[in-house]
Amino acid sequence: MSYGTNRVVGVDGGPRKGWNTALAVQAALDGAREKGAETSLYRLYDMDFKGCKSCFACKSAKGYLGGDCYLKDGLTPLLDALKGAKGVVMGSPVYLGDVTACMRAFWERYIFSNLAYDSQNPSVLAAGPSCVVIYTMNVPREAMAPFGYEELFKGHAGFLRRLNGASVEQIAVCDTLQFDDYSLFHAPMFDEAHKRKVREEAFPLDLKKAREAGGRLASSAGA
Ligand SMILES: Cc1cc2nc3c(=O)[nH]c(=O)nc-3n(C[C@H](O)[C@H](O)[C@H](O)COP(=O)(O)O)c2cc1C
Repeated sequence: MSYGTNRVVGVDGGPRKGWNTALAVQAALDGAREKGAETSLYRLYDMDFKGCKSCFACKSAKGYLGGDCYLKDGLTPLLDALKGAKGVVMGSPVYLGDVTACMRAFWERYIFSNLAYDSQNPSVLAAGPSCVVIYTMNVPREAMAPFGYEELFKGHAGFLRRLNGASVEQIAVCDTLQFDDYSLFHAPMFDEAHKRKVREEAFPLDLKKAREAGGRLASSAGA
C-alpha cells in the first residue's frame, strides 16, 4: 500500500458485489481517479472484524493513542489506509432504517478512535479525510423524510465532520432495483416495471452524482 497524499479510499458496506451500492462506490472512486487520485477499495463483508469493544485504549491517559484503534484484526489494514488519506467514499445499503451492521461497526472503530473526550480538542485529526457517504435504499426519495432517514443522515454527517475533512457529502440512491427477476420473490408491494424504469433513468444519474462527488474529493482543498 502506497501512502501518497492524494489518496481516496473506498469502503463498500454492502454484501452484494456488482449491485447498487458496489456500483455507486465504484463510480465515486472512478471519479476520484479521473481527477488524479490514487484509489483503493475495501469491502467490509470480506473483512473479519467486530465493532468497538469499549477498551478505551484510544482514550487512555497513559500512552494516549491519538486516533489509533488498539484492536488489531481484519479492519486494521483499512484503518491504516485511512491515515493521511485525502478522501473516503463510504457506501451502504439501508438495512432496517440505518446503515448495515458492518458499516456501523467500522464507524464505531474509525470515528470513535478519532474523537477525544476533550471539549477543547474534540477531534484527534487536524485535517482528516473529506467524506462522501452513499446510501442505497428501496424507499423512494419522497419517503426519506417520513421514514426519518433525513434526520438519521444528518446525525451521521455530524459524527463524520469530527474527522475534520474539508467536506462531508451524502448521496441518497433511492427506489433501487433489488432483484434481477421479481417473479422469483414474494414481493407484491413492488412494481417491477417501475423499479426497472428507475434503474434505467434515475440510477445512471445517481452514478453520475457519485462520480462527480468522487472527483471533488480528489480535487478538494489541501491537495
Ligand atoms: C436486511 C435488509 C433490510 C432492508 N431494510 C431496508 C430499509 O429499512 N429501508 C429501505 O429503504 N430499504 C431496505 N432494504 C433494501 C435495500 O436497502 C436496497 O435494496 C439496497 O439498494 C440494496 O443495496 P444493494 O443492491 O447494493 O445490495 C433492506 C434490504 C435488506 C436485505
